[in-house]
Amino acid sequence: MPTINRQWKLANRPTGLITPDVLQLSESPIPTVSDGQALARVKYFSIDPTMRVWMADVAQYMPAVTIGEVMRAFGLAEIIESRHPDFKKGDKVSGLTGFQEYVLLTAAGKQFFQKLPSIPFLSDVNFLNLLGVTGLTAYFGLLEVGKPQSGETLVVSAAAGATGSVVGQLGKIHGCRVVGIAGSDEKCKWIKDDLGFDAAVNYKHPDWKQQLAAATPKGVDINFENVGGEVMQAVLDRMNLHGRVVVCGLISGYTKQDPGLASFAQVIVKRLRVEGFLILDYVSRFMEAGQKLGIWKMTGKLKSRETIVKGFENAPEAINMLFRGDNIGKLIVEL
Ligand SMILES: NC(=O)c1ccc[n+]([C@@H]2O[C@H](COP(=O)([O-])OP(=O)(O)OC[C@H]3O[C@@H](n4cnc5c(N)ncnc54)[C@H](OP(=O)(O)O)[C@@H]3O)[C@@H](O)[C@H]2O)c1
Repeated sequence: MPTINRQWKLANRPTGLITPDVLQLSESPIPTVSDGQALARVKYFSIDPTMRVWMADVAQYMPAVTIGEVMRAFGLAEIIESRHPDFKKGDKVSGLTGFQEYVLLTAAGKQFFQKLPSIPFLSDVNFLNLLGVTGLTAYFGLLEVGKPQSGETLVVSAAAGATGSVVGQLGKIHGCRVVGIAGSDEKCKWIKDDLGFDAAVNYKHPDWKQQLAAATPKGVDINFENVGGEVMQAVLDRMNLHGRVVVCGLISGYTKQDPGLASFAQVIVKRLRVEGFLILDYVSRFMEAGQKLGIWKMTGKLKSRETIVKGFENAPEAINMLFRGDNIGKLIVEL
């Protein structure tokens, strides 16, 4: 039985991408388990754009990670010892494990962990992807904020990423014409050929705005926005009267100055409803959404894909992959 718990702690706030001085490797003894506690070994980290936001000293929806604190991260872990009435050895849990190899579940912190059911057709990584925060974000963002109607045109940015790839498939399930914007031809091919998007536009091609216009001949009714800046502007310029803009994320501004929009005027001209949302607002409905997502997965209506980076030591650099577009589907680190 190992005795050391390796942890990545925040040492310096990043100014751009994650440089080697931002997270510091540290070691502490694996915690001992008291009554009412359980010890879990972390198997996977979910790598999320919001981690870069958590590192920054800016106004945000959770407190920023403090200097010297174990880096906050979602993960999936397996209970290896338990004196907690709700967990037994071998149970799998997901929650805020932090960037560390072992996590102690205490009675007070129990609400941050969800015991995972064992379902034959679902693998562990599904619980960080389709049935985790990713799938839930896509579900509530599109269905509750975007309110898609059959026959409408939905455009989603970062479309081959974790959230965007689910949003597009949910749009198809609800009868929309779905157009994805992504950063490579390989990504565009995947969302079109494998996921069934109606069209895909590579925003790195010089004529991508003309391609977007051609792919949205009837304009855009719903913009599911993951990127912001020039990508968002191009979609806003194609919006129909009374369209909806679901502001899920603005990743183009997380590692550098938010590029903002060249013009917000389309919001007035087209009488758009622009609404931001946070997945945390829907916690009480996670079970309902998880059941639907699970059924769609089981019946082949939803597909998922992961980019898996192996090794605890590679976790900090994995965060940068999100900002370089190196992932297809959900980015996960396997310990
Ligand atoms: N509101 C919420 O509750 C909530 C919850 C979860 C996630 N989010 C947001 O949802 C968005 C997607 O998150 P995710 O976890 O699903 O990540 P992801 O899409 O799997 O990965 C991020 C993708 O963004 C694209 N990207 C990065 N920088 C870009 C830039 N400057 N311009 C254009 N595209 C860029 C890259 O793909 P390309 O190759 O296509 O560039 C990259 O693969 C993020 O903005 C995140 O903050 C919000």
